[in-house]
Amino acid sequence: MCGIVGYVGNEHAASILIEGLKKLEYRGYDSAGIAVINNKEINMIKASGKIKNLCEKTDDGKSISGTIGIAHTRWATHGAPNDANAHPHVSNNKKFAVVHNGIIENYMELKKELLDKGYKFNSETDTEVIVHLLDMYYDKDFKIALMKTISRLEGSYALGVICKDYPDTMFAAMLNSPLIIGVGVCENYFASDVTALVQRTKNVIYIEEGDFAEISSNTILIYSNTGEPVTREKTRIVWDVEAAEKGGYEHFMLKEIMEQPRAIKSAIEPRIKKGCISFEDSNIPTDLLEGISRISITACGSAYHAACAGKYMIEELARIPVDVDLASEFRYRRPIIDKSTLVIVISQSGETADTIAALKEAKENGASVLAIVNVVGSAISKLADYVIYTWAGPEIAVATTKGYTTQVTVLCLLSVYLAEKNKKIDAETALRLTSEIQKIPQLAQRAIDLNPQIPYLAKKYHNERSMFFIGRNTDYAVCLEGSLKLKEISYIHSEAYAAGELKHGTIALIDNDRLVVALACNDRLLDKLISNIREVKARGAKVLGVITERSTKIIPETDDIIYIPVGETLFNAVVQVIPLQMFAYYVALHNGCDIDKPKNLAKSVTVE
Ligand code: F6R
Repeated sequence: MCGIVGYVGNEHAASILIEGLKKLEYRGYDSAGIAVINNKEINMIKASGKIKNLCEKTDDGKSISGTIGIAHTRWATHGAPNDANAHPHVSNNKKFAVVHNGIIENYMELKKELLDKGYKFNSETDTEVIVHLLDMYYDKDFKIALMKTISRLEGSYALGVICKDYPDTMFAAMLNSPLIIGVGVCENYFASDVTALVQRTKNVIYIEEGDFAEISSNTILIYSNTGEPVTREKTRIVWDVEAAEKGGYEHFMLKEIMEQPRAIKSAIEPRIKKGCISFEDSNIPTDLLEGISRISITACGSAYHAACAGKYMIEELARIPVDVDLASEFRYRRPIIDKSTLVIVISQSGETADTIAALKEAKENGASVLAIVNVVGSAISKLADYVIYTWAGPEIAVATTKGYTTQVTVLCLLSVYLAEKNKKIDAETALRLTSEIQKIPQLAQRAIDLNPQIPYLAKKYHNERSMFFIGRNTDYAVCLEGSLKLKEISYIHSEAYAAGELKHGTIALIDNDRLVVALACNDRLLDKLISNIREVKARGAKVLGVITERSTKIIPETDDIIYIPVGETLFNAVVQVIPLQMFAYYVALHNGCDIDKPKNLAKSVTVE
């Protein structure tokens, strides 16, 4: 995830900014840059790769003089990770420099407008429109130019801006992307994350959505988006650097679990235009998705589980047959694919060796390959014909959480899009389903809030030797992921079973006190699931029910309950998995496991 730092004071800005960037390295990034005002000129230096490359170019910042500046670590979203796309971006006349986190959803329209007015673009980023808008609106008043600029932006932003005509003042603004102001003595800061600031100051101001701030060494003025002065309280941070990196959470995994409502929103919102789903950011030709006879999805691990959920959704709505394959099997089984098959590969890292091999196999057989990927510039994003990014931000914990939920979210969007394009649903139904998808970020937050009992459930069950997860339809797909989360971080054996399949053999393993986690969120199949629960209870199992308000009749059949908010059943996989991730997390915590780096596992499996 990109990181931002800004400084104004009396000290050497570049050294402070580079120190701040180093503290943000944990967030993951692929390039870095810095811009400082000196002698009424903006001096900007950028470097792809690690911060050490920026340090080498600037002699650890010593070669850049000045006491006011902005800096950035970029995690590529729009455009490859290279020097040109790294931030800051400067206006053509080098009057303004800007750093930005977030996504400007309407950047294509804005870019066209600015190109027509003669502005030259030097990068592929969405961010660059901001700096040209500032220049366009500038009439000797920095504040007015910024207000007019942010009024044109749709999407999310945390912005830091400097202007060479204002050598003592920097501006910061935020909407749907975190930004804080650090309060010092005769110096002030802004940053995307307290980690960048805690060694310099513990006094911070959390500005609110839509606010912007005018910051000099002795004053901080905060305004609402209409330009009215507003008061925001100063807060004292109690975290040390390590706690700050994890946002105050004990582990990256828990931080990433909690980030999911925002990550899911980032996957959805840029793809909704006037209530309709659009993948224009992926340049997918419409005729590619119209009249497809078959879809083949291939992936590994959790991404494969996302594919399993996708199969239910796409087949149900778009009525296109979907095969789901483990990439390690697909590549060696001479899959039957041709030009009329759309192959979808799913990968958080974009570097998984088996998925890359499956993608190559598909292309050799003449299929078009659409990749659903998180990491921009990764091998899969380069090899695929089309890419839909999940925009989850970097995942640091080895066990995926937000990577998986954003993959399923993209599949929700794709299922409605395919259904409409192939005339399997009418426009009205597409609008209704799209608005259901837009509710998912809120439902994800509710799934977290509804379940404060999870740490207690984890304490109760952390000594189990083995568990089963059962469910039907998309509930079964979620079982696969819930079970994997538990085994990979807590080392407790667990198996996911389609609830109706258990009786065909595996039920022999159900005995006294065995814990069965039963997912009962599909009302249509509830009675069937109740029968399956009775089968395991009759053999002495304890049952942890995962239910919605519509499935409460299952409560008497269970020993404990996890609650899932009611949403569109077909899309509920995204939300349902979150309490199961939390359950796995707390079980592992009770068992003293190394949660962020489980034994024998790597974040990116680049070997066969
Ligand atoms: C599990 C997990 C793995 C990955 C799998 C594929 O928590 O993270 O199962 O899902 O290794 O990785 P990507 O998605 O990077 O291709």
